Amino acid sequence: MNFMRQFVVAGNWKMNGSISQTTGLINDLIVGIKKIGGKVADKIIICPPNIYLPLAQSLLADSPIRLGAQNINQHDFGAHTGEINTSMVGEFDTEYALVGHSERRANYGDDDIAIIAKIEAAQNAGIVPIFCVGESLDQREQGQTQAVISQQIQLVIDALGIGAFVSMIIAYEPIWAIGTGKTATPDQAQQVHLFIRNLLAQNDNTIAAEVSILYGGSVNSKNATSLFACEDIDGGLVGGASLKADDFLKIVQG
Ligand code: PGA
Repeated sequence: MNFMRQFVVAGNWKMNGSISQTTGLINDLIVGIKKIGGKVADKIIICPPNIYLPLAQSLLADSPIRLGAQNINQHDFGAHTGEINTSMVGEFDTEYALVGHSERRANYGDDDIAIIAKIEAAQNAGIVPIFCVGESLDQREQGQTQAVISQQIQLVIDALGIGAFVSMIIAYEPIWAIGTGKTATPDQAQQVHLFIRNLLAQNDNTIAAEVSILYGGSVNSKNATSLFACEDIDGGLVGGASLKADDFLKIVQG
């Protein structure tokens, strides 16, 4: 982690929780963060299911914890049954949105075109996309990691320009590490993070130096410190461990 950049920890709750669990977890986080005092991530973000954003907003009123959406639709209002757009989540002080998460790429049709459109829609609404990239196990084993990551990022540069990365957070999430308990080693993660930063630097050195690149994939309270100690790892996108207040509170301390 480099102090020029923001240290960011985001919790991706995925499709978990209920009104009472959401209330309990958020209240535990609020109390926990107060107790810890100053030594926490510059930005602590939670991404509950969209239906709990209003509840989270009201509970978080005086807290430094920020809100993110797990998914947004790229279109404006209209005939998109079941979808939620950026202005809707924005009404509940949602400042971030995950875009390109591998579960959405694999299971919900978020292809490159949709991902680019979602990044653009989020930014137009003043929401910072947390843009997820990552390779599968097969791709890693075949030595394609850099090619895959480079393609995922280059597509966005080509479509939206390098300037799009000024108001963006990148999350490197190797698919083989998500929800599997097989965390990338700090070295493996650092190598990819540096690769991403160098790729951006080919277009703009300042943007490359300032963008926060989070690691995601089985981050927990035991491995977070060694991952975040790497020069180019600026925090984490945390799934399972973000559902346990004690674990998440340890992770946000770096
Ligand atoms: P995990 O999920 O921490 O449970 O591996 C990370 C993610 O999917 O963002």
